[in-house]
Amino acid sequence: MKFTVKVWRQKNAKAKGKFETYRVEGISPDTSFLEMLDILNNQLIHEGKEPFAFDHDCREGICGMCSLYINGRPHGPDDEITTCQLHCRKFKDGDTITVEPWRSAAFPVVKDLVVNRHAFDEILQAGGFISTTGIAPDANIIPIRKQDADESMDASACIGCGACVATCKNGSAMLFVAARVSALAKLPQGRPEAAKRAKAMVAKMDELGFGACSNTGACEAECPKHISIAHIARLNREFLLANIQD
Ligand code: SF4
Ligand code: FES
Repeated sequence: MKFTVKVWRQKNAKAKGKFETYRVEGISPDTSFLEMLDILNNQLIHEGKEPFAFDHDCREGICGMCSLYINGRPHGPDDEITTCQLHCRKFKDGDTITVEPWRSAAFPVVKDLVVNRHAFDEILQAGGFISTTGIAPDANIIPIRKQDADESMDASACIGCGACVATCKNGSAMLFVAARVSALAKLPQGRPEAAKRAKAMVAKMDELGFGACSNTGACEAECPKHISIAHIARLNREFLLANIQD
């Protein structure tokens, strides 16, 4: 297969960026999207040009690092997968593919296609813990309703990729925060700090410049782990309860 690839190039957060257009040929349909970018970068190196920077780590849909906007969609044209799980067969031979970094004020561009998602770490640090006293009991002796365990596990599937923020017209991080709050709030171990956690994480999210949620549902539609916006309703309940308790 051959493609024309338009890649966003930007030296740093303050520099003015622009698209550069490259051509790549001889790509197998079974090549992963990131491997195609590797091949393109190798080509640039052989031509004496600077390769473009892009983020990745696990390349198996786990770490959430591969934060790319591809043809106007976070993680590309397929549903419920990350960029690293996307393959070239999803495109047509001869296609033009546009690749951009996440666009959000809270995720500044570091270089080219790499953005800084440290804001997510700060939100997690603000409230994402549970405490234990004495010796931790064996996990199997704490009874948990099957439905609660399932909902907590579903919320825990969030990989912190940031696609929800990138796709939201308000740049809201509500789905990410809701997933983290829900994962702990549905378990008995997470209840003691539930109110404090919900308030601290929401306050940090607001402080870091993420926008407000207006329930468009774009976050759920583009989330590679299909985290449900029902978790946002739970976060709102937890937050309200925490404020009533004060
Ligand atoms: S909620 Fe979904 S889109 Fe948002 S960070 Fe988690 S996995 Fe990524
Ligand atoms: S590189 Fe880890 S999820 Fe894509």
